[in-house]
Amino acid sequence: MRIVVCESPDQVAMVAADESIEYLGLACSSSSQSQETSVLGLATGSTPLGLYQQWIKRHRAGEISFRNIVSFNLDEYCGVPPEDPQSYHYFMQENLFKHIDILPLNTHIPKTDCQDLPASAEAYEIAIAQAGGIDLQILGIGTEGHIGFNELGSSLSSATRVKTLTSKTRQDNARFFASMDQVPKMAITMGLGTIMNARAILLLATGVHKADTIRDTVEGPVTAMVPASILQFHPNATVVIDQAAASKLAHLDYYLECERNQQSL
Ligand code: GLP
Repeated sequence: MRIVVCESPDQVAMVAADESIEYLGLACSSSSQSQETSVLGLATGSTPLGLYQQWIKRHRAGEISFRNIVSFNLDEYCGVPPEDPQSYHYFMQENLFKHIDILPLNTHIPKTDCQDLPASAEAYEIAIAQAGGIDLQILGIGTEGHIGFNELGSSLSSATRVKTLTSKTRQDNARFFASMDQVPKMAITMGLGTIMNARAILLLATGVHKADTIRDTVEGPVTAMVPASILQFHPNATVVIDQAAASKLAHLDYYLECERNQQSL
């Protein structure tokens, strides 16, 4: 795992924007920008908002384009219709899609406004494969180490499926709902296997409330009790965090040295 420690959440967003733009060849002037589509995995939550604002800013400045991007979001709540302001459909529309030039037909979010949720999850997994797999997956992380909605105990090779949310996740996300009763109990989420199939991963975390889970993810044993720890097996996973989220890492000095040495190559 590559660990990039930034001075502030703003710098996390900037580094994530630079990395993703280069990896996906989004720059309008870039010779790597071809007519070929790239597949981008997207996340919700407050953490990726800074990255999305960077993308929007650079798109408005004419620097980058999402014309050749196909996107797949990690997850969606069950029982929250797409037009509901609490849905991840609505979140993505408001915070990213309506501000950039991605084609609406190219955006995908798990469908939960249907009768057969398991079939919808299965169809989503197939759609990702048919699109050629995910090139770059953006991830946030829950305070108990979930990625997407892969809660503790998730199979380390799971596919997209319906998952029950833990009470900690429901409490963490209650701030977006009028009352705890309204927080959904289930979601469709890409699985850990789906995420691990992505060719590159960018996990973002900021704030001291993420410090324990970042330590467990990066330095703890690989275990389904900390689902994000599976990323230790990924050959191209980058963790971009601020100093607060990095504050419990035992080997912080070593990660900083690795970055300095990489930059000198
Ligand atoms: C939700 C999402 C996750 C996200 C997590 C953390 O549970 N399903 O994808 O990583 O929230 O959210 P935040 O970035 O707001 O801390």
